Amino acid sequence: MNQFKVIRPEEISKNAFELLGKDWTLITAKKGDKVNTMTASWGGVGVFWGADVVYIFVRQTRYTKEFIDASDEFSLTFFNPDQYRKTLSYLGKVSGRTEDKITKAGLTVVEQNGIPFFEEADMAILCKKVGQYYIDPKGILDETVIPKWYADNNYHDMYIGKIIEVLKK
Ligand SMILES: Cc1cc2nc3c(=O)[nH]c(=O)nc-3n(C[C@H](O)[C@H](O)[C@H](O)COP(=O)(O)O)c2cc1C
Repeated sequence: MNQFKVIRPEEISKNAFELLGKDWTLITAKKGDKVNTMTASWGGVGVFWGADVVYIFVRQTRYTKEFIDASDEFSLTFFNPDQYRKTLSYLGKVSGRTEDKITKAGLTVVEQNGIPFFEEADMAILCKKVGQYYIDPKGILDETVIPKWYADNNYHDMYIGKIIEVLKK
């Protein structure tokens, strides 16, 4: 834990296209004393309601969604992509419903202000959940999107997280 220092959001050196789209992230939240995590590559960082925020998109079926819904906070954890690609692929394929995937992935859960993230990370963004929106298909204007991404009706919720702290090694 003490390997991390707090940085300001504007000190994050990689842009969101790299951080999320290319390197991927882990979305992690806690429900009671249990923690679950999943890989994500869709989302972003920006400014909303006068605050620095992240936004992520989580499908209805994800076990992690139950954890985000049960909690006031969540984290995004970022890793060295060369070293952790396989781990993130695994955590993005298998559900925490069926496997103790955090243990199997060899990751160590740590907490700051009660928000879980991973010791092995390069960076973690700790967030307070401030918004949640069902992505209503009525609002999807590009007609290619629904057949391509929602043929199974498994729509996303968008969560907006106000950045509480950015921790960097
Ligand atoms: C590279 C990658 C990116 C992903 N991005 C997302 C995402 O943005 N939103 C989402 O709902 N699922 C995404 N997934 C799928 C979830 O990570 C996957 O379904 C995971 O097994 C869910 O685990 P859970 O059931 O324990 O929550 C992604 C998977 C991979 C491999």
